[in-house]
Amino acid sequence: MNKSVSYFSLGLFVGILVASVFYAFVSGGRDATNSGTRILKLAHGLDTSHPVHMGMERMKERVEELSGGRLAIDIYPSGVLGSEVQCIEQLQSGELAMTKTSTAAMESFIPELGIFGVPYLFDDEAHFWEILGGEIGKELLAVGLDSGLVGLCYYDAGSRNFYSAKKPIQSPDDLKGMKIRVQNSRMAIAMIEALGGSPTPIAFGELYSALAQGVVDGAENNPPSFESSRHYEECKYFTPDAHTRVPDLLMISSEIWSSLSEREQGWLQQAADESAVYQRELWAVKTKESLANVQAAGVEIVECDPSEFQAACASIKDSLKGTPLEPWLKRVQTRN
Ligand code: GCU
Repeated sequence: MNKSVSYFSLGLFVGILVASVFYAFVSGGRDATNSGTRILKLAHGLDTSHPVHMGMERMKERVEELSGGRLAIDIYPSGVLGSEVQCIEQLQSGELAMTKTSTAAMESFIPELGIFGVPYLFDDEAHFWEILGGEIGKELLAVGLDSGLVGLCYYDAGSRNFYSAKKPIQSPDDLKGMKIRVQNSRMAIAMIEALGGSPTPIAFGELYSALAQGVVDGAENNPPSFESSRHYEECKYFTPDAHTRVPDLLMISSEIWSSLSEREQGWLQQAADESAVYQRELWAVKTKESLANVQAAGVEIVECDPSEFQAACASIKDSLKGTPLEPWLKRVQTRN
């Protein structure tokens, strides 16, 4: 082969290589296109053993199958790209394509989602799913569009329950004087205050050390999160009072969503919907397993009467009168 041609090809090859490395670098936080595959970055704060993470893994697999490899998702778990609030902000700037957070963390961006933080809002689990799967759930997925956030699906996050390090929480009286970690949510703060405790907002990723150092006396969550975060190593009392049902929400940046073709949007939405069905089945199994595992590790399940907690929180529903959440409360209660 002519020498100058082979030098030229080598130069071209090196040039392309440098350009791709540079592109991959500059597009680090954004969605990237790589040899015909559009890659979306998805970050969240849960451990890879968590059933909600497994739901997202299923979505990743399905989107790659449905698109024949033209659309792909890279998942960054365990808070490696920041706290839930930081991930939401990165979605708004278009720096990150997707995130999964609790709706509680979304409350300061999309106030309507605060409705899920109202204690004892749902009559039972069936009521919760009726709302999420119906018109109200659909409207709430779309309500963040103007804030740069498009909801794709809900994941089951069960019910939230108290856990504590030094003494069991059997009734609201026990919460008096206790510092309880809450999510970054006004509704969660109001709930702990109504119960007589002292609410302390801390990011989920910082809670293990806050419990270990005694910065807070307890927290609240669902069993799979209690287990996979290893909070049970510090908190040996778990009180199944089921005060709230706060779902997890999968979101995409509206800037990125609108840059996808209709076909790409269709693949992603179908994959998200299918993953939500799968995750809900997994949830029931994993919740039982987590409760058994933490008990085997020495956690005591504290007997309680949830109606005492419910009565102590009743003022929260009244406090919504005249606020933008009042119509949502009515709609959830009347199921329409
Ligand atoms: C749940 C939820 C997480 C959230 C966490 C929290 O585990 O799935 O998204 O971060 O609660 O209490 O902050």
